[in-house]
Amino acid sequence: MKPKEQHVTVSHPGYSDEFYSEESAVVTSDGNAAGQELSKSHDTTLAANLEAVRMLGLKLPTDPRWVNVAEKTIEEILTDHAFCEQKAATMGVTLIVKFSDHAKLVDEVTPLVAEEWGHFRKVLKELKKRGLNLGRQRKDEYVVALHNQMRKGGSREQTMMEYLLVSAMVEARSCERFRLLSLYCQDEYLRKFYYEFMVSEAGHYRMFIDLAKHYLPEDQVKRRWEEMLIAEAEIMANLELRGDRVH
Ligand SMILES: [Fe+2]
Ligand SMILES: [Fe+2]
Repeated sequence: MKPKEQHVTVSHPGYSDEFYSEESAVVTSDGNAAGQELSKSHDTTLAANLEAVRMLGLKLPTDPRWVNVAEKTIEEILTDHAFCEQKAATMGVTLIVKFSDHAKLVDEVTPLVAEEWGHFRKVLKELKKRGLNLGRQRKDEYVVALHNQMRKGGSREQTMMEYLLVSAMVEARSCERFRLLSLYCQDEYLRKFYYEFMVSEAGHYRMFIDLAKHYLPEDQVKRRWEEMLIAEAEIMANLELRGDRVH
């Protein structure tokens, strides 16, 4: 473990299954988890969102010790987090503009954009409270790598599925990281702060998956989601796990 100048890393590769053997684990290595989640209809209740957290199905769980280093660089995490919220809002607008003739998508993504912008404001407020400004955006290697996984050249519906599933993936991984912060931050205030984000992003993750299922055959969505889960795990395995980044 070598702390670096601007950020802190944890042991390579920084992921471990052992922490996920607990009953309350968010992430399961069960390959059917994503499929089970996909079989549910959209439901916006807190219970449904918490169930979604349990069923994320990510293939490479984050080592919870990441929280120990993240908490030490909380200002850095907050800046990165603010830009994650901005990117989520921007992606929502992109979806609405690109697929504006899909009424259900427009109806559901429009309030999501407002919510993500609300998240941005909330994180900005937290920075200000700590006497900090937003600062400059950092390159988001995770999101760039995920976007590079998107298939081009298919039908319009297939392109929409690529956008929806990449959006769902960012929500799922964010949700997983926020859950760790909500459980393991030493600071009770921060635990509560991140709990709310975890619940909200879980709802978004489910919404994107449900939208994909609405517009495309469920089998196709499940197959592509499973491929993306595998690709995402590879991306994560090759990314340095940094204490100053949400992803
Ligand atoms: Fe958000
Ligand atoms: Fe979100």
